[in-house]
Amino acid sequence: MKVLTVLGGQWGDEGKGKIVDLLAGRFDVVARYHGGHNAGHTVKYADRHFALHLLPAGVLRGRTGVIGPGVVVDLGALLAEIDAVRAAGVTVGENLLLSDRAHVILPYHRLLDAAREKAAGDAKLGTTLRGIGPAYESAASRKGVRIAELYREATLKARVEAIAFESKALLESLAMTDIPGVEAVVEALGEAARRLRPHVVDTGLYLRKRLGEGATLLGEGAHGVLLDIGAGTYPFVTSSHCTSASVASGLQIAPKQLDASLLVLKAYTTRVGSGPFPTELSDATGEYLRKRGNEYGTSTGRPRRTGWLDLAVGRFAADVTGADAIAITKLDVLDDIDPIPVCVGYRLDGKLVETLPALVEDVARLEPVLEKLPGWKAKTTSVTRFSDLPPAARRYVSFIEEKTGAPAVFVSTGPRREETIFRDDLPFAAALPADP
Ligand code: IMP
Repeated sequence: MKVLTVLGGQWGDEGKGKIVDLLAGRFDVVARYHGGHNAGHTVKYADRHFALHLLPAGVLRGRTGVIGPGVVVDLGALLAEIDAVRAAGVTVGENLLLSDRAHVILPYHRLLDAAREKAAGDAKLGTTLRGIGPAYESAASRKGVRIAELYREATLKARVEAIAFESKALLESLAMTDIPGVEAVVEALGEAARRLRPHVVDTGLYLRKRLGEGATLLGEGAHGVLLDIGAGTYPFVTSSHCTSASVASGLQIAPKQLDASLLVLKAYTTRVGSGPFPTELSDATGEYLRKRGNEYGTSTGRPRRTGWLDLAVGRFAADVTGADAIAITKLDVLDDIDPIPVCVGYRLDGKLVETLPALVEDVARLEPVLEKLPGWKAKTTSVTRFSDLPPAARRYVSFIEEKTGAPAVFVSTGPRREETIFRDDLPFAAALPADP
C-alpha cells in the first residue's frame, strides 16, 4: 500500500486527527486535499496537545505536509497555526508545501458567511463562520483568488476588485455595512503572501513525481461523509467533497493511485451545526455522552449534539468511500452504559428504510430502528490490546465490523496516542508501509 486516505464516516469530529497522527510516521507525505480551517484535528501525546485546522498532522511527525489545490486557505489562520506549532518546538520549513492552485479565503467570504447565517435566523446552517462556503462559491464561479495570483500584483488587484464588487452588493442586501476596501485587503494579502512564499509550489506536480518515484502518501480527510456536499445531508453540509473520490481531484493525482481507504467512526455519533440527526439524544444520556466524551468543537468550541451509533450511516459511509478498514474511536466513553442501543436502519411512514433519504425533511422524520447490544460496565480507558477488552466490548466492535463490512484495525480507548489498540494481526495492518 502506497497511498492511503483517512476519512470521517459521520458528521465530522470522529477523531481522524489522532488516527492520522498514528499513521503519519509510516508515510513520506501527508496531505490535506479539501476543506479549510473549518476542520479541527486534535493530536495528544505525552503532555503535548495540538489543535490543528489547516496544517497536515504529518508535520508533527516531521513528515512533508502538503496543503493541496482542493483546500481553501485563510492565510492569517495558516500563519497563526505555523507560529503556534513552531512555538511548541515543531519544525515547519521546507517540509510544508502549499499548492499554488489552492483558493484563498478573503474577508468578503467570511463576512458573507456570517451575514447569510444571521439573515437565515432559525434556518441557519450552523456553519463555522470561516468563509468556507463563499470561498468555494468564488472558485466555482471562476472568480476566485488562488495562491498563485497572490504573487501577480495586477491580477490580484483585479480579482479582489471583482469579488469585492459582487460581495458588496450582496452584503449590503444582507444589512452588512462594515465592508473592507480593496486596497486594505490587497495589502494584508501581500504581507501574508510574502511570509508564505517559501512554501508555495505546484503540489500536484510534486506529488505525481514523488508517487512515480515510489513515495508513500497519506491523505488526511477532514469533516465527514455526511457533511459531503453531494453525499451528505444537503443542505446541512460543508462545501467540499468529503469522500475518497476527492483525494484525487483535491491533490491532482490520478484516482487509480489511491490504494486504500480507512474510515473513522466514533463509537457513538456527534454533530455540530444544524441539520437532521436520526439517533440524536436530547436527554440526560445525551448530556452524559457530551460530558464524558468532552464533545465540544475543536474549531469553534460549540457543544456537539450527541446520539447513539448509527450503523445505517456507517454502512453508507463505508460503501461510498470503499472502506478497506475502519478505526473506532472513543470506545471507552461507553464504558458505563448498558445496554447500548445502535441504529441499524430506519422507519419512515411505517416502512423500513435502509439508508438516509434525499430530503432532509424526510431524514428529520426517520425513526431509528435500534438494536440493543450488551454493555460491558468495565473500564476500557487506555487498553492497548484487543484481547484485554471485555467480551461485550469486543462484541460491540465486531457488530460494527459486520454492519460496515470492514475490519476494525484501530480501536481508540482515550485521547492520547498511546491509548490505542492497533490490531497488527489484520491483513490491512500488514499491508501498511512499515513503521520506522
Ligand atoms: P462550514 O464548513 O463552515 O460551511 O459549515 C457547514 C457545516 O459543516 C456546519 O454544520 C459545520 O458545523 C460543519 N462542519 C464543518 N467542518 C466540520 C468539522 O470539521 N467537524 C464537524 N463539523 C464540521
